[in-house]
Amino acid sequence: MVDVPSLLRSVPLINPSLLAADFACLGRDICSLEEAGVEILHLDIMDGHFVPNLSFGVPIVEAVRRTTHLLLDVHLMLQNPEPYLPIFRKAGADFLSIHIEVAPDPRPMFDTIRKLGAIPGLVSNPPTPVEAVLPFVNDCDLMLTMGVMPGFGGQTFDRSTLEKIRRIREATDENRLISVDGGVGESTIADIVAAGANLLVVGTALLGHADVPAQFQVLRQRTLNN
Ligand code: DX5
Ligand code: ZN
Repeated sequence: MVDVPSLLRSVPLINPSLLAADFACLGRDICSLEEAGVEILHLDIMDGHFVPNLSFGVPIVEAVRRTTHLLLDVHLMLQNPEPYLPIFRKAGADFLSIHIEVAPDPRPMFDTIRKLGAIPGLVSNPPTPVEAVLPFVNDCDLMLTMGVMPGFGGQTFDRSTLEKIRRIREATDENRLISVDGGVGESTIADIVAAGANLLVVGTALLGHADVPAQFQVLRQRTLNN
């Protein structure tokens, strides 16, 4: 089981999204992230229903698990995530995050995720009011706020998300991971951390660079200059 309190001692953390990796060379890209010093990887699972795109599924999560000891944060963009919780846990997920838009009361799924030995997270899309997730801030360890409509990497950060992050930060204690996903990069990351986020999912702005370890340091410095 992931030791969330010890992970919280290293925040703010950059959480690279493998969606922006070169899938023909996934092992190589994961090695370069390990060399850069990352502690966690973000894996986007899309079903073509909840989001208008497909990404990858169980075999890729299993392959990533075989190749690294890094923590695996699995973001389920699925219309019906419940049957897949044990499947992705078995594949190697340490964190399993579900969307509030498909689970208005996510607590039963949080219980299932904990029973499976993983850490539950709750995600909300930009148009979803923060009031939809606030009742659950203390029922899960990870609150993930989307900075873009999910489905594709490389989109522009929606700055109205900053107010949602502040509200979530205010509503919760220090023992939670407050994550942001979508549009996080050099020009947005400092404001996102200042709003209260401590786990920054970064796809294109990290893996889109030729020198991933150098870019990791650039982004990391920006999280620290707050
Ligand atoms: C978007 C995914 C993100 C995506 C972020 O639907 O959930 O994790 O990979 O990509 P960037 O950082 O490029 O916006
Ligand atoms: Zn994601």
